[in-house]
Amino acid sequence: MLKREKSIELLNKAVADEMTAVNQYMYFHFRLDDMGYDLLSSLFKRTAITEMMHVERLAERILFLKGEVEMKCSGPVEKIHDVKAMLEKAAQMETGSVDDYNAWANECAQHADSATKKVFEGLVIEEEGHLDQFETEIENMENFGANYLALQSIERSKIISAGGTPAE
Ligand SMILES: [Fe+2]
Ligand SMILES: [Fe+2]
Repeated sequence: MLKREKSIELLNKAVADEMTAVNQYMYFHFRLDDMGYDLLSSLFKRTAITEMMHVERLAERILFLKGEVEMKCSGPVEKIHDVKAMLEKAAQMETGSVDDYNAWANECAQHADSATKKVFEGLVIEEEGHLDQFETEIENMENFGANYLALQSIERSKIISAGGTPAE
């Protein structure tokens, strides 16, 4: 396989993972918003938007290499309703991305495509940041339990009763 084709294949696999993350995180955003947990709801929305921008970065590289952007998803959205299970699913997805992108950066180095390697390396740093945020939230839930979620609901009630709008 030509090195250009190999890079396009890896970039499209990454697009599929990112598209799956966008869908999964938006699903969590809607659910958490419905439950009134504003902080976690907006964390998932912001992260979903970042993953969408990752799709854009990958797509630009694919087009530069004269490939087609496949826009597939690597898996279905899991209909998780439990808040801690959502965070654990997200941490697991970010860990998978970090592992994959590190491995794919190495593959690109082996066929001497250093620009695609750099794209993957840049993504690794950002996915590690997401992983860190989700792990912090898991720790908060473990340390403060139901109180942690209750505080988020109370915060929303305070904002609404003061005539404000809760976080998006
Ligand atoms: Fe991403
Ligand atoms: Fe991520």
